[in-house]
Amino acid sequence: MSVEMIPNLVSFITRREGQKFLKLSQEINDSIITGSGLGGDAGISLYIHIPFCRSLCPFCCFNRYLFKEDSARQYFKNLKKELDLYIQKGFTFSDFYFGGGTPTILMDELIDFIDYLKKNFEVKQISLETTPREINPETINHLKTAGINRLSIGVQSFDNDLLKAMGRLFCPGEEIKERLLMAQGKFDTLNIDFVFNFPGQSIDTFEADVAAFKKLGIDQATFYPLMASPHKKDALERRFNRIDTTREKKFYDIILRELYTDGYKASTVWCFSRGKRMIDEYIIDSDDYIGIGAGSVSIVRGNFYVNTFSLDRYQELLTNNRLPIVGWRTLSEAEHRRYYLLTKLFGTRIDKGQFYQRFNTSIDQKLRNELLFFRLFGLVQGDNKISVTRRGMYPVSVMMREFFASLNTLREHYIEKQI
Ligand SMILES: C[S@@+](CC[C@H](N)C(=O)[O-])C[C@H]1O[C@@H](n2cnc3c(N)ncnc32)[C@H](O)[C@@H]1O
Ligand code: SF4
Repeated sequence: MSVEMIPNLVSFITRREGQKFLKLSQEINDSIITGSGLGGDAGISLYIHIPFCRSLCPFCCFNRYLFKEDSARQYFKNLKKELDLYIQKGFTFSDFYFGGGTPTILMDELIDFIDYLKKNFEVKQISLETTPREINPETINHLKTAGINRLSIGVQSFDNDLLKAMGRLFCPGEEIKERLLMAQGKFDTLNIDFVFNFPGQSIDTFEADVAAFKKLGIDQATFYPLMASPHKKDALERRFNRIDTTREKKFYDIILRELYTDGYKASTVWCFSRGKRMIDEYIIDSDDYIGIGAGSVSIVRGNFYVNTFSLDRYQELLTNNRLPIVGWRTLSEAEHRRYYLLTKLFGTRIDKGQFYQRFNTSIDQKLRNELLFFRLFGLVQGDNKISVTRRGMYPVSVMMREFFASLNTLREHYIEKQI
């Protein structure tokens, strides 16, 4: 098999693995969700989803709704109720990730919610996402005072033609740069997101975006390969051109050329940072995580479950004091181990000792063939601490894209059917 075929092969295998996550049962076994033995330091994080945006980008694969103030205020109330249910089950958290949507859409509610977290937990770190149009001195001040450690801003591109195609010309490229500079240096980590392999995006445009990121001196950038779920793919292809994954590697090669060295470090295969920086990939930071909010997913001790994506159902279940879970899957031991492998590869490192601690068995025994494959093609190196090599970066990126694409299929189904 030639090296060029590896991404195709891993893509196929991961897609098959990811599809298992689509087979969810509606029998919800929430009595086994308990926080005992999973203290704040035992590696469980809390993800909080705020699904409201001022406009909806056509390519976006997350659960999001057009902002309506009444419904957003009610939503924040429900979030507290959901959190209370987890507290009653003995959960405690110290690392928090606000994602969206747009978490800053109602600043007073956000601050009130963060205060609620501080009242209930010993807060160690908070990461939060927002869009450039929300960034101004006042917002930055509020976020800093609230104790946000990592601020992540979805830039996507600085190119106005591309921003227009993405439905995001609400803030043109030059204005985005000015707003980013307002925030740079104000948080432990400032991250910006880019999308690559968008239909119509040229390699030159992408090179210019990466160069602008470096020139601005921002701490960190995360590069998302465009991921489309089946229906979104049809809609995107009708609206733009074909989504051509064969072009993807050309974009990724630029990331590697510009950011694999030159003072940056890969925090994940998609995220490159100067110095030691926080990342928002709670899925690799923590072995277990709970997601609250409409459309969040959770993994606790090998149980994968999803919350309702519907705002009405979210409200209804919480009014009845029930966790808003609508889909459930208990992973088999082997699925759980492979999920662990995927997320650690995504974070570019696997620690054999940590694997042993989690599974009480050795990785060499249980994932022998997988590791053999990765070693054989030079995709990983090292013994006790296994790391992804430069050559392994793109195949792992493909694996993660495929895995997320499966989750997007699930999201799309739940959103369309309002489950
Ligand atoms: C959920 S958004 C939240 C950020 C914020 N709402 C914004 O748009 O600026 C986080 C990131 O996901 C990425 N994203 C959204 N949809 C995507 C898709 N279909 N494929 C790849 N990345 C996507 C974008 O880069 C975006 O910045
Ligand atoms: S990309 Fe961000 S702003 Fe656009 S719809 Fe998705 S969450 Fe909202």
